[in-house]
Amino acid sequence: MQLPGRHLLGIEGLHPAIISNLLDLAESYALLNRSGKTRRDVLRGRTLINLFFEDSTRTRTSFELAGKRLGADVINMSVSTSSVSKGETLLDTAATLNAMNCDLLVVRHKSSGAPALLAQKVDAAVINAGDGMHEHPTQALLDALTIRRHKGRLEGLTIAICGDIAHSRVARSNILLLTTMGCIVRLVGPPVLIPTGIEQFGVTIHHTMETGLRGADIVMALRLQTERMNGTGPGGGLIPSAREFFTFYGLDSDKLALAKPDALVMHPGPMNRGVEIASQLADDPTRSVIREQVEMGVAVRMAVLDVLSRTANRNV
Ligand code: ASP
Ligand code: CP
Repeated sequence: MQLPGRHLLGIEGLHPAIISNLLDLAESYALLNRSGKTRRDVLRGRTLINLFFEDSTRTRTSFELAGKRLGADVINMSVSTSSVSKGETLLDTAATLNAMNCDLLVVRHKSSGAPALLAQKVDAAVINAGDGMHEHPTQALLDALTIRRHKGRLEGLTIAICGDIAHSRVARSNILLLTTMGCIVRLVGPPVLIPTGIEQFGVTIHHTMETGLRGADIVMALRLQTERMNGTGPGGGLIPSAREFFTFYGLDSDKLALAKPDALVMHPGPMNRGVEIASQLADDPTRSVIREQVEMGVAVRMAVLDVLSRTANRNV
């Protein structure tokens, strides 16, 4: 199996068969992880650098774990204590790491397109770990794997993605992946948090949870991405208050009752409990698969590293 290029910059452009194959490989890594076995030969002699210009818990840790489980040498660059603080640019930083013969460069940046820019300048395979409001491809893959494990398929399922769609790269990557795989995707939120023209991606818009959640198989809650909003006040000035947002758009068991009886609750994390999701529901093991999403994150990143290492320039 090969990706269209030697990088993973987004879901855009990935053929359904490639997505299915990646999920199959990730599934095999999920089983291996559960059995406690590792395959340290896959990335032996390879170097992976995590270059995170934005905060992360899940993505950075799981790429580190994935790299180590496959036998790579893994370096986590701490951007705040790097020479970036002395004014070194993104490109110079990347060129410096490239000169150290890094094979896989995992990049998170606040600017959309930053990983794509780096991909043109370095020999390493670049993996987008989240760029601004653009894409977060491994998140969409791990979400799809989690859904597929529970529902046995993706095609024909109805997925309601709720909350701050406008500022979310998770929403964008999920919209691309889920529509590509034949899902029915509904976006649910107040007009200020839904980008205009998004219907052209093959989704439907709902401004109430009542219509958005009715009969859904999956309900995915998203955090208000206040770090990407300009105003001050609750929700970057876009919502009257967190309490009001929760009343209308917060996912709780009453609203979930509108969905199918076996509908699953998802959230990419980090959660703001009591804002976009009720704490009790997030922790309800009969409905919430949030922890499994984190577990699948390691498996999906192992699959992505494995596949990219087959085409990556061998620097060592
Ligand atoms: N962790 C995800 C991201 O980095 C979602 C979020 O932060 O709310 O996009
Ligand atoms: N879901 C996600 O990307 O989490 P982090 O921001 O903690 O990496």
